[in-house]
Amino acid sequence: MQKRFSPMTIIALALGVVGAGLYLVPTPRDDAPRRILYDNAGGPVVFEHARHAALVAPPPGQERNCASCHHESPAAREKPIPCGSCHGAAFDENFKKTHAAAFNDNNACATCHHQELTPKQWGHERHYEEFGLSCTDCHHDESIEASPQNCADCHERGVAPGRQPREKGAPPSLADAAHQKCRSCHEDLFAAGARGCASCHTTVKVRYRLPREGLVRLDPLYTDCAVCHGKSAQKLIPGRMDAFHGQCMTCHRKVGKGPFEKTQCGQCHTK
Ligand code: HEC
Ligand code: HEC
Ligand code: HEC
Ligand code: HEC
Ligand code: HEC
Ligand code: HEC
Ligand code: HEC
Ligand code: HEC
Ligand code: HEC
Ligand code: HEC
Repeated sequence: MQKRFSPMTIIALALGVVGAGLYLVPTPRDDAPRRILYDNAGGPVVFEHARHAALVAPPPGQERNCASCHHESPAAREKPIPCGSCHGAAFDENFKKTHAAAFNDNNACATCHHQELTPKQWGHERHYEEFGLSCTDCHHDESIEASPQNCADCHERGVAPGRQPREKGAPPSLADAAHQKCRSCHEDLFAAGARGCASCHTTVKVRYRLPREGLVRLDPLYTDCAVCHGKSAQKLIPGRMDAFHGQCMTCHRKVGKGPFEKTQCGQCHTK
């Protein structure tokens, strides 16, 4: 009987070779999309991702320029994060509850949760020894404090400025109590907003506190942006539509190509 390969064997071998070949060819690190369809309330938008990625000239000495649009990407990040994970439609309760799960990378937390505070030696002794203050400029008189003691003995720690103490009718939180006394002479430091906190507290960059892996613990005192900025998240991080419009149209205006005029909505939003 003549020995021959059955068609099945040949196909199997061929598939094996192709498979091995595909396995060995390195896949791109980032699986960047070719084009993206946005189906949205303004009408669907087709975004030619690959063509756009090729349009932007890389900085000297580099192969590509993904960071011009993916502004969150440090060089080390394997894969950019979808814009919508950060630029939510609204920064509401639902966003607060679910957003941390959208990030596969602890470092991403630090793009928004970027600062925390720790106490520092702010010059307690100098205030009465050099600046000539009396104890009761900050401490209560005997009616409350028999002799000066730590404010935190009576004023609750762990409550963000401007928030009520956990127990109803209790004295103001430690933050509000201390700040109110300091403010009477240091209004300028509080007027400086987020930057002013650093004149009495040491600031720590969150990125230096993040573990490489595992659960991130942020200090709950500082997860609310308004604690330092006095402004809500909406005023600090553009929402989803503004983020897209901002990035797409700012570039088009700058290079004088692609739609950006108020009359050109239809060139992106096809109906
Ligand atoms: C350069 C392209 C481009 C232009 C020009 C443009 N848009 Fe958009 N628009 C987008 C993209 C991209 C999105 C985001 C889609 C998404 O969120 O899924 C969007 C989203 C929207 C949304 C949806 C908001 C939502 O919550 O779903 C509306 C409404 C909108 N645009 C209106 C307009 C209007 C009005 C104009 C003209 C003044 C305009 N757009 C011009 C690209 C464009
Ligand atoms: C002109 C702007 C622009 C440039 C340049 C660009 N991208 Fe993007 N990219 C986008 C936008 C916009 C999205 C859509 C993100 C979304 O829908 O949330 C995207 C999405 C992606 C995604 C999918 C993310 C996801 O999981 O949904 C990957 C991966 C990606 N880009 C990789 C790259 C790489 C790699 C480069 C550089 C070679 C690059 N991009 C250059 C604008 C750009
Ligand atoms: C990891 C979180 C994160 C991701 C992912 C992200 N952004 Fe942002 N983006 C921010 C934060 C935080 C700000 C406000 C702080 C600032 O201005 O840097 C911002 C600011 C912006 C602004 C206004 C400032 C500017 O650069 O002109 C635009 C526009 C914008 N983002 C568009 C985008 C688009 C489009 C994408 C996706 C391609 C994207 N962002 C992805 C966090 C993110
Ligand atoms: C795009 C910016 C952004 C990124 C990135 C981000 N957050 Fe947030 N986070 C917010 C905003 C905005 C709030 C609400 C703050 C407010 O109310 O002012 C918040 C609130 C929180 C809160 C408090 C929730 C509550 O119930 O009050 C925690 C905890 C938190 N984030 C953890 C994380 C962790 C962990 C990561 C990374 C895995 C992360 N966040 C990444 C913007 C971000
Ligand atoms: C400028 C405001 C201010 C003045 C003036 C001041 N204190 Fe204090 N004192 C504080 C604050 C705030 C604390 C809480 C600890 C901290 O923040 O350093 C404190 C804490 C203390 C404590 C507790 C220290 C500890 O480690 O538990 C003692 C004791 C004390 N003060 C005594 C005095 C005496 C005595 C005087 C007057 C000679 C005085 N203080 C003047 C603001 C002041
Ligand atoms: C022994 C307990 C105790 C200590 C210690 C204490 N407080 Fe108070 N504090 C109270 C009580 C009780 C009230 C509420 C009194 C009232 O409503 O009249 C109060 C109220 C306040 C208020 C708001 C009312 C006002 O006086 O304007 C401020 C501000 C304040 N404390 C600052 C401080 C500071 C700063 C320290 C430390 C330097 C401190 N307290 C230490 C018990 C204490
Ligand atoms: C003039 C100096 C000063 C400035 C400016 C200042 N703080 Fe404080 N802050 C203090 C002092 C003093 C305390 C009490 C510290 C203690 O006894 O541990 C305090 C307490 C706090 C606490 C309570 C910490 C706890 O453990 O409960 C928070 C939160 C806080 N400050 C946040 C801020 C923020 C946010 C800013 C800027 C917007 C700011 N502070 C600006 C002096 C200042
Ligand atoms: C009665 C007025 C008064 C009060 C109340 C007061 N300070 Fe001061 N503080 C001064 C004076 C005066 C100086 C020295 C001159 C200057 O730098 O403004 C000073 C300086 C400082 C400095 C700079 C210190 C240095 O070493 O250069 C810090 C930080 C400070 N104060 C923190 C605080 C804190 C925190 C509180 C509240 C617990 C507070 N002050 C309350 C009057 C006050
Ligand atoms: C512990 C205090 C603190 C908290 C909490 C905080 N920030 Fe900031 N933020 C700062 C300081 C300080 C600066 C100025 C940094 C500088 O100049 O280097 C800043 C700068 C910024 C900027 C740059 C624009 C500007 O106004 O200079 C943005 C955007 C921003 N923060 C967004 C956020 C968002 C969003 C959150 C909440 C998720 C947040 N921050 C929470 C302290 C804080
Ligand atoms: C970094 C600059 C840059 C950004 C960011 C950018 N574009 Fe463009 N876009 C261009 C340039 C340059 C052209 C002209 C291309 C040409 O003439 O070949 C263009 C052309 C276009 C056109 C015209 C049709 C076409 O394909 O030629 C559309 C639609 C478009 N862009 C959509 C978008 C959308 C949607 C976004 C945001 C998600 C975006 N672009 C972001 C640079 C940019």
